[in-house]
Amino acid sequence: MEDGQVIAVKRLMRASSDEQREKDFLTELGTVGHVWHPNVSALLGCCIDRDLHLIFEFSSRGSVSSNLHDENSPPMAWKLRYNIAMGTARGLHYLHKGCQRRIIHRDIKASNILLTSNFEPQISDFGLAKWLPSEWTYRAVAPIEGTFGCLAPEYFMHGIVDEKTDVFAFGVFLLEIISGRKPVDGSHKSLLSWARPFLNEGTIQLLVDPRLEQDYDMEQLKRLTFAASLCIRTTATLRPSMIEVLEILEGGEIPQDRWNLPEEEEEEFWGFDDLNEDEDECDTPSTSSTRSS
Ligand SMILES: Nc1ncnc2c1ncn2[C@@H]1O[C@H](COP(=O)(O)OP(=O)(O)O)[C@@H](O)[C@H]1O
Ligand SMILES: [Mg+2]
Repeated sequence: MEDGQVIAVKRLMRASSDEQREKDFLTELGTVGHVWHPNVSALLGCCIDRDLHLIFEFSSRGSVSSNLHDENSPPMAWKLRYNIAMGTARGLHYLHKGCQRRIIHRDIKASNILLTSNFEPQISDFGLAKWLPSEWTYRAVAPIEGTFGCLAPEYFMHGIVDEKTDVFAFGVFLLEIISGRKPVDGSHKSLLSWARPFLNEGTIQLLVDPRLEQDYDMEQLKRLTFAASLCIRTTATLRPSMIEVLEILEGGEIPQDRWNLPEEEEEEFWGFDDLNEDEDECDTPSTSSTRSS
């Protein structure tokens, strides 16, 4: 810009028809337009000419995904990973509870968390975001969209979204930044199924990215892995809210007992592997019709 500010311009082009593109544009504009938080990408304006554009502050360090998985640069330091987890949790808590109308993002993943020049994480890409009006406890949404490997089971199987859908994706995101592994990397083993045994057996050191060469904080690792293990619970109601995640990440003593599973609750395993066929971050199959309840 003339004043030297660097901006990012997002041109909307994914939709199949002009009508759909306009709908997507208005949805994204409507949600991101009224959010304001240090950990959420700031919309500066929009531009409608032959194409539809959204204008954002430029996040000069790129996405968490590009930083984390770039083998040509040094591994992302532990401290930065921890700060990214904290900032993203704060941003997500704001979307779920802090802004005027509740928002479910529906596509929380490392390529949608951007980094500012001083490596502050910013949740971006509200292309799939939905309002969650306060009088509704959940929405049923079809087609089912999002990123394979990050989808919560109730959403994948029944199209049900509420903020716990984002909490699940946040859990996968935590495992990704701890381990440096992608949610689905084409090796026939999802990050979830790979990580579960370590979480269940408490061998959490084995989850840490080997590129860090043991250079991490054990207390923070305990908090991150404990939060991740709760976020990825199969039963949505047994997952924490983002404020509870924040308490675990930054609080005093880790409240293990409070989060014990009810005795009758046997956790079913959910790891995507039965569904995973060589796909690398593919979108899910779609169904028709949109419902809400
Ligand atoms: N504000 C921004 N600053 C810098 N890069 C951005 C910004 N917004 C998006 N990008 C880059 O563009 C990519 C795609 O943007 P995104 O909004 O996620 O669109 P899509 O719907 O195509 O996923 C991001 O992963 C990031 O690399
Ligand atoms: Mg994106």
